[in-house]
Amino acid sequence: MTTTAFSQIPVGSELKEIPISSKPGIVEVLSSRRDPLAFERKRIAQLGPVSGYHAFGRTWVVPSGPEAAEEILMNKKKTFANGPAWTYLIGPFFNRGVMLLDFEEHRSHRLILQQAFNPAVLRKYMDLMQPMIAERMAAFPTGKVDLFKEFKALTLDVALEVFLGLELPKAEADRINKAFLETVQAGVAVIRKPVPGTRWWKGLRSRKILEEFFYAHIPAKRATKTDDLFSVLCHAESDEGQTFSDEDVVNHMIFVLMAAHDTSTISMTQMCYRMATHPQWQQRAHDQSMQLDATLSYDDLGALTDLDVIFKESLRMCTPVPAHPRMAIEDTEVSGYFVPKGTMITVPVYANHYDETVYTDPLVFDPNRFAPDRAEDKKFRMGFAPFGGGVHKCIGLYFGQMEIKTIMHHLVRDYEWSVPEGYVLPMNYASLPIPKRGFQVTLRHR
Ligand code: HEM
Repeated sequence: MTTTAFSQIPVGSELKEIPISSKPGIVEVLSSRRDPLAFERKRIAQLGPVSGYHAFGRTWVVPSGPEAAEEILMNKKKTFANGPAWTYLIGPFFNRGVMLLDFEEHRSHRLILQQAFNPAVLRKYMDLMQPMIAERMAAFPTGKVDLFKEFKALTLDVALEVFLGLELPKAEADRINKAFLETVQAGVAVIRKPVPGTRWWKGLRSRKILEEFFYAHIPAKRATKTDDLFSVLCHAESDEGQTFSDEDVVNHMIFVLMAAHDTSTISMTQMCYRMATHPQWQQRAHDQSMQLDATLSYDDLGALTDLDVIFKESLRMCTPVPAHPRMAIEDTEVSGYFVPKGTMITVPVYANHYDETVYTDPLVFDPNRFAPDRAEDKKFRMGFAPFGGGVHKCIGLYFGQMEIKTIMHHLVRDYEWSVPEGYVLPMNYASLPIPKRGFQVTLRHR
């Protein structure tokens, strides 16, 4: 029998040893990319609720279920850290983004960053974004439309307006968009060295483009206070009087833009996919939006209850951040299993959202499961965790919902869209879950 760190269980402890799959990393990575739910379910059936596998040059432990998720994300014993795990995956590209910081340092950065996401500032962002979204949605293309591509372009433009407060020429906006894409995709590169032409190499090249771009605009942003995030970060001060250095501003801008962009695009694509395959929900959302003015205010958002449950159910079925990695920084435990110091561990949110102890018929699209009388998401603290939990819980949660609801409000009011009967959207799960070849619909003005 081989001795590994996992078998070094402290004498007298009742903790169990985590079984580790012996398959080669490349086999595991490919099968998880093919079908993440089947991958997870098969491992649970073969090895139990907590097991490990090899991928990206490391062993990753995956404790399944909402209670294990709570233990890790709430991190009561402070034995799990974000930095070493996320840094391993995306560190060179998202260096010192707030999600990659831990404990006291994370707390002090998050307190300053929070100033850019408080309700008063969110209202200003809403005022900035509402007219531009209304204008863009009025000119939305019709006929055969790739919604994924349209949302990607739209969320980037919203980000440039609301986060950067800059009007960029198209070629420059495209260059920045491409740089974001490449930095995001680099994290799950199989070749994890800067070999020219590989994802990793492109990610590093793009990080440099983004740094140069932000540093160049800092002096102007520091000189004048405006309502955009970039300016807010340049002037933000925590209650304790702390501010960000230029380097902090650049690191946080790059991270926040990345965190905001793909997640919102994925959410809207999934909502439209589900509303196309369940047109009764498209109609309900339309009817509800027609009861409000076309121009939404911050205070109207709560009235869009149908879009709200469609959003939640879409995020349940295809959660934009499918796993939340951590590293054990000392010997610890999860669900009664021994977790040695240095273990990479990840919360399998994607699979947890299909857990039958949490959700009735989890494979079925059923937004009403989130209605107050059923509230399946409230059964467990971390049964529904698209935005994570604990101290790293998504800071852009309200911003994201505001943007998504505003875009969807215009879309469902003025347009209807469809896909062929029985359509299934082919997905690429290599990084964040995106459609393999965009998401084509037939879209017409109502
Ligand atoms: C539907 C859209 C979104 C989803 C599903 C989402 C999901 C998440 C998740 C799961 C985490 C935690 C990851 C972990 O703990 O390992 C996170 C963190 C974060 N998100 Fe979001 N996000 C979304 C939109 C946004 C937006 C719009 C912004 C910015 C405007 C944003 C900014 C951030 C930041 C800064 C963090 C790190 C927080 C910290 O570590 O303290 N996200 N997000």
